[in-house]
Amino acid sequence: MSIAHGIKRLGVLGAGQMGTGIAFVSALHAKVPVLLHDKSAHQISKGLSLIDKLLAKDVSKGRLQASDAADARARIQTADSVEAMRDVDMVVEAVSENLDLKRAIFREFAAKIRPDAILATNTSSISITKIAGAVIPEGEPAAGEVAKAVSGRVVGLHFFNPVPVMKLVELISAVQTSQDTLNRSRAFAEACGKEVATSQDVPGFVSNALLMPFINEAIMCLEKGVATRDDIDKTFRLGMAHPMGPLQLADFIGLDTCLSIQQTLYKGTSDSKYRPSVLLERMVDAQYLGKKSGRGFYEYNN
Ligand code: 3HC
Repeated sequence: MSIAHGIKRLGVLGAGQMGTGIAFVSALHAKVPVLLHDKSAHQISKGLSLIDKLLAKDVSKGRLQASDAADARARIQTADSVEAMRDVDMVVEAVSENLDLKRAIFREFAAKIRPDAILATNTSSISITKIAGAVIPEGEPAAGEVAKAVSGRVVGLHFFNPVPVMKLVELISAVQTSQDTLNRSRAFAEACGKEVATSQDVPGFVSNALLMPFINEAIMCLEKGVATRDDIDKTFRLGMAHPMGPLQLADFIGLDTCLSIQQTLYKGTSDSKYRPSVLLERMVDAQYLGKKSGRGFYEYNN
């Protein structure tokens, strides 16, 4: 028997490519009303126009009835603050990879959002246990009942880019996460049309603990002149049937995101195999962030 996720209203914090994609699959497949919040009005309008484009494409390809697209679009509303999301049953945070920022956001979630809501993070590499540690009210013992109840609601729900296309969600339990939170989060991801793989709360989880060293090695190959950019990518596209070579994939993910994940792996393990390549650092210093900034290892006309 499938477990009910019980999510009647979802909040999504962050209207970048991940947050927008999460709002899209939640409204379209899970048919859940979504409140989307971002501190940048520009980001919100960019996110909503991407959603409009994706729905229109599905209709034009005959995969979606126009009325179903209109219903899905109507389910997505914007929220002008975290307070406006107070009645949601689950909130998914999808902001940039910064532990202090995420801890501050989760502290705010715990204070402002209804006490039985699931507090999920889409982090790619940061410890869910560290984020969950931030929600314990000041003065409460970490092992006490209050702390257990609130931190038990924190979970890692890691979607992949582009969210509407990639079939996987990685489910990560913090040390504190309750079984009920895990069960309902899995059921929700499945309702969004995804398959779930679980990972322990290690730096980068399974996905990025394996992917980022691969991308980093590819950048080091380029740095050392082992092969050209095009030949490195061609090797993986044609030799291993990857849809994108590692350098193109790094641009697609965002070089700043790749660097911050790589730094989290390096810091979290002290293992020199995770040391970020100098070229990756320099690219980010130069603000060559990949597709989103118009230039990375390739150039883009966005
Ligand atoms: N949003 C929504 N849909 C998108 C999209 C986007 N940003 N980009 C492409 N698509 C859709 C297209 O609309 C098209 O859909 P259709 O078949 O219904 O028309 C489909 O994807 C295929 O797109 P294209 O034909 O334009 O291009 P490709 O065949 O080259 O596919 C790709 C594009 C799906 C992005 C493919 O290149 C791919 O799978 N790349 C690898 C992506 C990947 O590895 N993602 C994981 C990154 S790691 C991650 O997210 C974890 C994080 O923590 C770092």
